[in-house]
Amino acid sequence: MGLPVRTDAGAGSVGVETERVLARDVVGRDRRVAGVGAHRRPRPPQEVAPDAALVGDEGNAEVGTQVPEIGRRFEPPLGGDQVVTLGQRRQLVGVEVALDGRARLGGSRHQVIVSCNAGSVDIDDLGTPALLIDDEAMQHNLETMAAALPGARCRPHVKAHKCTALAQRQRDAGHPGFTCATPRELVGMAHAGLTEDLLLANEVVSAPRLAGLAALDARVTVAVDSEATIVAAADAGIREALIDVNVGMPRCGCAPEDAGRLADLARGRGLEVRGVMGYEGHVVAIADRSERARQTETAMAMLATAHDLAGGEIVSAGGTGTYDLNTLATEIQAGSYVLMDGAYGELDLPFRRALSVLATVISVSSDHAVADCGLKALAMDHGDPTIDGATVWFCSDEHITFSMNDGSPPAIGDRIRVWPAHIDPTIAKHELLHLVSEEEILATWPVDLRGW
Ligand SMILES: Cc1ncc(COP(=O)(O)O)c(C=O)c1O
Repeated sequence: MGLPVRTDAGAGSVGVETERVLARDVVGRDRRVAGVGAHRRPRPPQEVAPDAALVGDEGNAEVGTQVPEIGRRFEPPLGGDQVVTLGQRRQLVGVEVALDGRARLGGSRHQVIVSCNAGSVDIDDLGTPALLIDDEAMQHNLETMAAALPGARCRPHVKAHKCTALAQRQRDAGHPGFTCATPRELVGMAHAGLTEDLLLANEVVSAPRLAGLAALDARVTVAVDSEATIVAAADAGIREALIDVNVGMPRCGCAPEDAGRLADLARGRGLEVRGVMGYEGHVVAIADRSERARQTETAMAMLATAHDLAGGEIVSAGGTGTYDLNTLATEIQAGSYVLMDGAYGELDLPFRRALSVLATVISVSSDHAVADCGLKALAMDHGDPTIDGATVWFCSDEHITFSMNDGSPPAIGDRIRVWPAHIDPTIAKHELLHLVSEEEILATWPVDLRGW
């Protein structure tokens, strides 16, 4: 969700590098802390390091801090998943792991995941904090969106999850095109083979970065909102563009009445103008549905004016909160719907929350408990995270302090699931996403579109 950043100094704003306590009343101090989650199952000690080998084509790779060679056996560290990052040649390799550890291919061409745990893998094996995706909830969200906005009617925004494996699931659900926020996201999508129709819904003026996008073996369209961005795109060899229009949120985008002039300019520089885009980010989170609908209409009237002037077949707009209210857009750029979060959860939407942060209780006092999941594992710009059956008191850099609503204390070592209020920046803090069904890990995906 692309809401403007809150400017009040209240519960959501977080100072960089600052250990902080929320400036609000702490509730529940008089309650006894109650039991939470399942106790960790005792596991036999693992004394033998797994024995692994990279297989496949040539090319160096990094496994954690090691740089093994193709074909040579090595000992990856025990415990948790290791991201295997290939070097320059970026050719697909696999990893064989001895014992009965599992090796799984991740969803991108340049990264694979090896899970170095002996035996079957479940969430008890994960180091915390760790991101979990509930498979059933995600499937529900994919199916619900594909039914409402089939095929190209939805252009999923990958900035929400930054994961090509999850984007592939959206492709499998029928959506051929994607929205990206950064050049890095677009390049990663192209490398993952998701090349059909990639939109960079952000202005870029860097010549080398635009040239890199133009050189991809993919259909690439970029947003432009000024003469400078048009010239930069055309000079770099970009072929297609959308005129980005400000429809009420003070961010990028030209004035609606300027869209025709910019479209003419772009065409004069050799760009194909496919149409217009305009994101009504100031509207998507309005709680009252009729008011959200009314303001969506106002915003889209501005985009319609721009479209009349600019031409082209595409009107790209919308987000999760307006996916079924925005009737002007030919395609909706929804991102959050697939995993959802606390902020969107307060709206009347049919999508289910699927993303949680797994944390371990590390300290218990008479009136509160603490788990190892703080500001560095959670985005707080849309408010506090939640824990089922508990009251969150506050978060600091590496801690979440909470009390149980029924008064039963958790035990040290218990695992809890923390629900973030805003998924996009939460995911961007992590390297891996674990797809789970209850306690079992079905797949581990790299958050491989991180960065800019
Ligand atoms: C340009 C743009 N389009 C669409 C979206 C929609 O995202 P969401 O579905 O999370 O509201 C965003 C979110 O910030 C955005 O920046």
